[in-house]
Amino acid sequence: MLDIQKIRADFPILSQKVNGKPLVYFDNGATSQKPQVVIDAISHYYQTINANIHRGVHTLSQLATDAYEVSRGKIQKHINAQHLHEVIFTAGTTHAINAVANGFAALLTTGDEVLVSALEHHSNIVPWQMLCERTGASLKVIPMNDNGELIMEQFDLLLSERTKIVTVNHISNALGTINPIEYMIARAHEMGAAILIDGAQATPHLKPDVQALDCDFYVFSGHKICGPTGIGILYGKEEWLRKLPPYQGGGEMIATVSFEKTTYADLPHKFEAGTPNIEGGIVLGTAIDYLNEVGFDNIAQYEQELLDYATAQLIAIEGLKIYGTAAHKTSVISFNIEGIHPYDIGTIIDKLGVAVRTGHHCAQPIMDFFKIPGTIRASFAFYNTKEEIDIFVEAVKRAKMMLS
Ligand code: ALA
Repeated sequence: MLDIQKIRADFPILSQKVNGKPLVYFDNGATSQKPQVVIDAISHYYQTINANIHRGVHTLSQLATDAYEVSRGKIQKHINAQHLHEVIFTAGTTHAINAVANGFAALLTTGDEVLVSALEHHSNIVPWQMLCERTGASLKVIPMNDNGELIMEQFDLLLSERTKIVTVNHISNALGTINPIEYMIARAHEMGAAILIDGAQATPHLKPDVQALDCDFYVFSGHKICGPTGIGILYGKEEWLRKLPPYQGGGEMIATVSFEKTTYADLPHKFEAGTPNIEGGIVLGTAIDYLNEVGFDNIAQYEQELLDYATAQLIAIEGLKIYGTAAHKTSVISFNIEGIHPYDIGTIIDKLGVAVRTGHHCAQPIMDFFKIPGTIRASFAFYNTKEEIDIFVEAVKRAKMMLS
């Protein structure tokens, strides 16, 4: 059981007023709020050990390097990666996906296929389209049904020896669908294809075990899991990270450089060119420690309660339609009210202190599927409460009355 009031006291921003009303922050899918330990860890880093890493013999550089590598170890343990060097620091999920897609340019040719799902965020579509344009490979799309669930029979039909990589999110940002990635990973491997899992929306809600999943790549962002922005993780199986060429060239990713030839550094540095986000890398470890103290089982159970409570209240509103009604979904509710533009609802409820995301959620193909311009998306975190859901539902009803 979570002590929600104690948890909320860890997040200073939650006691703020916005537009004169207590903040109700339901835009957790876009970014999470930060607990005081994370905010303090950022200051502590700059106040005590700020220096460049892996470069200096001086004490501060050693301390900063040690803290950065300790954090890498925490992330390895958190996702249960077999090797420390399989954990690459990136700027975020988008950077991580681009690094893998870019690497595959060396491996693909005309006739090869890349399989994406209909539920993807633009960041897991566009890099693969760019890859296909460069290599002559084709992009194939796993379709979904009206509940926002991927159709596994179609996936099985699309998968072939031509498929070189499958890329799918663990949880959809726009609809909250939890995808059957265990099945998809096993099937992709049976066909000899690699598989990348976009865990950006899953890692706030669950602890992935990359060895049990057996995925080839698993990527996620720090800012969605109570950490800073500008930091993320690319997990890759050692054999794949060795096979793929580096994404960016520069300092720190080399072994030797001459004008005739450069040799690359070993993993993980091969994929970490330039001065990294040192503070972000270190503090991501703090954020992960914090979440593990709260406990992912507790988080999952409590967020399910919030989801059920909010869903029951919202569906009672006349004219309200929820998009994404998968049997397995997380604490995300995307909806519209008949005859009202999502943006108008979002603007009015913001005046009442409620923060939600409106629009296409960087997932235009999903909106095209439902033939809508966008939705209102409420995404809950473990620090939200049923009382906040009551305020939100009242705000939606009020907005509906004003706009009808
Ligand atoms: N990908 C983030 C979202 O879904 C920004 O809102």
